[in-house]
Amino acid sequence: MSPVHPENWPVLVIKGGVDDELLRDFTALAAAAEESDGNPPLSEQTFVTLRAGESGSHPLLALALYAPDEDSDPATAQDLAGFAVVVEEADGTGVLEVAVHPSYRNQGVADRLVATLKSSRGFDGLKAWSHGNHEAAADLAAKYGYVPVRELWKMRLTTSAAELPEAVLPDNVTLRAFVPGQDEEAWLAANKAAFSHHPEQGNMTQQDLEARMAEDWFDPAGFLLAVDPSGRILGFHWTKVHPRHGGHPAIGEVYVVGVTPEAQGMGLGKALTVAGIRYLQDQGLHAVMLYTDADNAPAVSLYRRLGFTRWDADVMYGPKNGG
Ligand SMILES: CC(C)(COP(=O)(O)OP(=O)(O)OC[C@H]1O[C@@H](n2cnc3c(N)ncnc32)[C@H](O)[C@@H]1OP(=O)(O)O)[C@@H](O)C(=O)NCCC(=O)NCCS
Repeated sequence: MSPVHPENWPVLVIKGGVDDELLRDFTALAAAAEESDGNPPLSEQTFVTLRAGESGSHPLLALALYAPDEDSDPATAQDLAGFAVVVEEADGTGVLEVAVHPSYRNQGVADRLVATLKSSRGFDGLKAWSHGNHEAAADLAAKYGYVPVRELWKMRLTTSAAELPEAVLPDNVTLRAFVPGQDEEAWLAANKAAFSHHPEQGNMTQQDLEARMAEDWFDPAGFLLAVDPSGRILGFHWTKVHPRHGGHPAIGEVYVVGVTPEAQGMGLGKALTVAGIRYLQDQGLHAVMLYTDADNAPAVSLYRRLGFTRWDADVMYGPKNGG
């Protein structure tokens, strides 16, 4: 490996969308980081935004730091040592995620990216995710005056199928699978109502939904809707299957569970969650996980009662003064 002087390496600052080559490099680095850390360094929305490029619904700012290859002209960018991505919102806020290749850790790569971000964009309205709450991320956050402001738990089911409670649907409520081309608009409205308090999930757009439906993993049969006799959506449980990769076995995910406010507290969330887990188990998936905000008391209580326990946590950092 070349001698390490990341403070001298050029940082590419890209506004809008990244090209296919950069996307490939980012994806490969994210995979290497996940393999080494056990956590993906980017959230799913960031990947959706990166893939959508200029046509995406969220503006993007990306920084890439390439290490020069000692065998060639040092001016020629070679190895992607690290990158930073900011997914911006229309209101000027943004969320930062940084990833450093395992071969380039502990050499100031992330610091150089963040320092460049500070001088090019500034930190206005900026928060940052640390997936898995990496120690180096905590140090970096502290250096820039950032403190933990939100904790997202990863939970996994530790009980067997037989131990899941029988969960009965409220009267006059039935379950059916999502129908692509028919249910998008009504589901987006139900999702917005259920997640009105939730910064990311509640703002999902038609384009965000379509991007997920275009992914290989999308399976409408595992996207359950609870409807009343008039066909109105009262709740939903969208499941996701993460196929086996490398040495990691396939795992099912309680991807999104939501109940519209007027239907909450009647046992529908529990019935939907159990139905989705049984669907995953019928597909041969016995490991099931989910993400939830640590302070979402109804959700944490529901999941704990079903046998989920805390597995890991992602931490969001924000400025100490809240500004
Ligand atoms: C979390 C959510 C799906 C629960 O759905 P629900 O239909 O209201 O819940 P249920 O009536 O089925 O209750 C199931 C369990 O949840 C827990 N629960 C529900 N509401 C609760 C509340 N306000 N406070 C604490 N626990 C609560 C109870 O433990 C209950 O278990 P019990 O019946 O054995 O006592 C629902 O509150 C919701 O849609 N919230 C907004 C979206 C969201 O946050 N989804 C989860 C994302 S990770």
